[in-house]
Amino acid sequence: MRLDGKIALVTGGESGIGRASATAMVDEGAKVHLVGLDGDGLEQAAVELGEQRASWTVADVTDEDAVRDAIGAAVERYGRLDVVFSNAGNTGAVAPLEDYPSDEFARTLQVHALGAFHVVKHASPHLGEGASVIITSSVVGLMGFAGISGYIAAKHAQVGVMRAAAKELAPRRIRVNSLHPGPTSTAFQDSIEMRATGASQQDAAAAFDELIPLHRHATPAEIARTVLYLASDDSAFMTGATVAVDGGLTI
Ligand SMILES: NC(=O)c1ccc[n+]([C@@H]2O[C@H](COP(=O)([O-])OP(=O)(O)OC[C@H]3O[C@@H](n4cnc5c(N)ncnc54)[C@H](O)[C@@H]3O)[C@@H](O)[C@H]2O)c1
Repeated sequence: MRLDGKIALVTGGESGIGRASATAMVDEGAKVHLVGLDGDGLEQAAVELGEQRASWTVADVTDEDAVRDAIGAAVERYGRLDVVFSNAGNTGAVAPLEDYPSDEFARTLQVHALGAFHVVKHASPHLGEGASVIITSSVVGLMGFAGISGYIAAKHAQVGVMRAAAKELAPRRIRVNSLHPGPTSTAFQDSIEMRATGASQQDAAAAFDELIPLHRHATPAEIARTVLYLASDDSAFMTGATVAVDGGLTI
């Protein structure tokens, strides 16, 4: 029970890595407040986790008032926050630089960088000593990749949000780290891979497997285990770190 009695907020909590991490946190004794865009998905996830253990709010992380209200709902219910997992994200376009729509570039930056900023900004007053903030960036927050310039810029920008917050919150003994998953089997990643290769889901995944030294995708549950590590006191001396869980893609 590594998170016994802890209160966690998870954005993008209704699916993929967010949902798997919320499940892992509840299994380790936490209560979670899920935030995302899909009300039905959030409700279903919360019901599965159990009404005593999970609650939810629909909020677009680019909307500052909505993020403030979602965090307010979590704090009203549970009294404080111990873990903040800022994980919501969109893929943006898949297109060469010359064709990449500028409005989509701006929106993708907003979701990832401004979104994470809103979450950290409004969670901060409710965090105490020992709290942990985790921002899901990506392997492409540490390296380049052709055809996804908006997503790459956004994922690098999240490292800036993380470092700014890590420095500023360290005097309060609050830790902030970024998580950099490699390709992980979710509908989100399928969509990027199929658009990038023009191939079927299976063929696209196989092509990506070739790029990964460990020759496979991660599962969301596997990524969740690193989220648990960063959320818990097992990582008590880690802050400001960029944590790659990528099968060696950034080697
Ligand atoms: N799957 C991968 O291979 C992979 C790799 C590296 C990083 N990531 C990152 O992991 C995170 C989760 O992705 P996933 O693969 O689990 O996909 P996913 O689509 O299951 O999760 C994304 C979640 O974010 C939510 N969301 C999107 N835009 C939002 C907004 N504006 N406001 C609030 N919520 C919003 C969605 O509703 C969804 O629940 C994302 O930040 C993604 O960039 C994924």
